[in-house]
Amino acid sequence: MIDTNLLAVDCAKELDNKHIVNPFYRNSKGTVQLFHGDCLMLLKNYPDSSVDMIFADPPYFGNQSGLIMKRTDGHADSFNTQKAQWAYSKTLGDQFDFHFAWLREAKRILKTGATIWVTGTYHSIGVVNVVLQDLEFKILNDIILHKRNAPPNFTGSCFRAVTETMLWAKKDCYGKTKFNYSLMKSINGGTQMKSLWEYWAEKNGFRHPATKQPIILEYAILAGSNKNDLILDPFAGSGTTGFVANGLGRRCILIEKELSYCELIKERLEGKYGEFRRKTKTEGQV
Ligand SMILES: C[S@@+](CC[C@H](N)C(=O)[O-])C[C@H]1O[C@@H](n2cnc3c(N)ncnc32)[C@H](O)[C@@H]1O
Repeated sequence: MIDTNLLAVDCAKELDNKHIVNPFYRNSKGTVQLFHGDCLMLLKNYPDSSVDMIFADPPYFGNQSGLIMKRTDGHADSFNTQKAQWAYSKTLGDQFDFHFAWLREAKRILKTGATIWVTGTYHSIGVVNVVLQDLEFKILNDIILHKRNAPPNFTGSCFRAVTETMLWAKKDCYGKTKFNYSLMKSINGGTQMKSLWEYWAEKNGFRHPATKQPIILEYAILAGSNKNDLILDPFAGSGTTGFVANGLGRRCILIEKELSYCELIKERLEGKYGEFRRKTKTEGQV
């Protein structure tokens, strides 16, 4: 089980510590912990109903080309898609099995009323949607993430892809949905926030081929959690969820399979690539 002694004190109440799994890294306050490993295995270590929110950006399995693509998003060099083996395509059956395995555990460990956010492209989000329904999550919204400065379609063979979908779902149909509705309304200038989130992708100084922009995590975390809540990201990547959760005063557990990304997350959480700066403003900050 996850070593709860290394988490913040109140987190220890929520997690079982029978079988110890040591974290790869934890921050000095003990409020963010990173585990190096496969989430399909590690998620089984968490007790039922122990997590307040999950953010997941799983592999899209759309990477078939092996082409070396020129980056346009500010990264220092080109991205050799052959290196990102975790993004390689899988058969449809294997994709269903993969999403079913981790989402079943995700549902089990979420508290009643708590929510999960799962991102995907047109390659992957259909499978995720069907699996969420099969597992009897209650889908609340399909949030469209519109990247205003998305790169063009290089080959001119179809439309320029400027969106991703993020499904927002509740554990099941029981309990009150954990949703800071009024806060999000106030962030949105006093009008109800829509399921279309538009943003500009900003440059960062590190290398990860699929990092999410912090503003997306900022919205999701503010909407679906409160201070000191425990958030989990089973596909941590460059650690954006932990970085933003920490900045917003939440506790966070990250899981990442690739060792080099774990090193990056550690550096990022230690401030090597800059400190967290909140972008949203409200009267009473939550
Ligand atoms: C799309 S990226 C996540 C990016 C992240 N949201 C960010 O902002 O940096 C998916 C990540 O999941 C990791 N991954 C893939 N399969 C995994 C597994 N079974 N367990 C844990 N991590 C996994 C990959 O190494 C990759 O870093």
